[in-house]
Amino acid sequence: MKKDEFLKEKSDLLNVVIHGDNIAVLNDIKTIYCKKVDCIYIDPPYNNGETYNYYADNASHEAWISQMKATIILLRDFLKDDGSLWISIDDGEMHYLKVLCDEIFGRNCFITTIIWQQRNTRENRKAFSNNHEYLLVYSPNPELFKKRRNRLPLTQDVLDRYSNPDNDPRGPWQSITANVQAGHAVPSQFYEIVAPNGKRHNPPHGRCWVYNEERMKREIANGNIWFGSDGNGVPRIKKFISESVKGIVPETLWLSDFAGTNKDAKTHLQKLKVYNKDLFETPKPERLISRVIEIATNEGDLVMDCFLGSGTTSSTAHKMHRRYLCIEENLITCMYVNDRMKKVIEGEKGGISKDVGWRGGGQYEYVEWNH
Ligand SMILES: C[S@@+](CC[C@H](N)C(=O)[O-])C[C@H]1O[C@@H](n2cnc3c(N)ncnc32)[C@H](O)[C@@H]1O
Repeated sequence: MKKDEFLKEKSDLLNVVIHGDNIAVLNDIKTIYCKKVDCIYIDPPYNNGETYNYYADNASHEAWISQMKATIILLRDFLKDDGSLWISIDDGEMHYLKVLCDEIFGRNCFITTIIWQQRNTRENRKAFSNNHEYLLVYSPNPELFKKRRNRLPLTQDVLDRYSNPDNDPRGPWQSITANVQAGHAVPSQFYEIVAPNGKRHNPPHGRCWVYNEERMKREIANGNIWFGSDGNGVPRIKKFISESVKGIVPETLWLSDFAGTNKDAKTHLQKLKVYNKDLFETPKPERLISRVIEIATNEGDLVMDCFLGSGTTSSTAHKMHRRYLCIEENLITCMYVNDRMKKVIEGEKGGISKDVGWRGGGQYEYVEWNH
């Protein structure tokens, strides 16, 4: 498809990869997509001084930051109010980029910094083995974003913490502490608990009970306090798995078993065998992008990436039944993405395919912007 055709169709329902310079393309499509995008993920060149097979990453700091400024100002207007922008970056430019994003969005629009363990092997050549990168997260309206962001499913790890030693008909539960630090306590939190078997319990030194006495008595009467299997244990609160079905709040530390590694991404690309030239050297793993998409969007939502590279965002979004609009300026890389997306539609088994039960299907459109 050509640019004119795309603009005529205003194809905001399609899954699209555009070959072109992101600033030029974003300028051309901004009126169509203004406030229509649910999640933008970008993985720009980090400005680390390297020259890769298909793009150079060696601009001056000033040139890099002004390019990022122009891009992020444009991107901001594509986001819905409850949408979010996620930017991958490493130590080199992270702090400059944070200040830049604060200026563009406003500091109140900063949501968090995620630390991603991008490698789990040791790098011995430098003073420190650098094992992490960052994701900066912004939203035009963080309150609205908080309401829409998805919790993550309970992991087996979390499920294993629940059991039902007293055959409670309400189902499995885990016990959590019933006392808290006394620093901000009110007098009604200091009292003696009398267990059903008559044993008396005082809070440990420097701590108080989490509930006042009246509430604690009610919780004991309702069977919500656990005194150990023999009834003599320190009182603890029973937290039922049924109360956690909404899932877990995402954390800011993303270890490799949660979000994959750069090596996983390269292995996936090698196995895909989509392009017989040199490998694309800086792909992200689909698991990382899938976490972003899982938290920030629902099926049918629109995801954008204007530094697409080898097509990880389009591939992941496609497998997760999100719409996507992605931009990449390098032609060979775009050819690579084309081959990759064909394999995705045919049902390739790598990356997150197993996690999401991917069997193939769907459509994908490639758009030449300048020809
Ligand atoms: C770090 S790579 C992205 C890797 C990607 N996340 C992946 O998983 O493969 C950055 C990409 O941005 C592209 N790029 C750089 N400047 C661009 C621009 N002005 N417009 C569009 N793409 C650009 C580069 O060609 C490169 O493919």
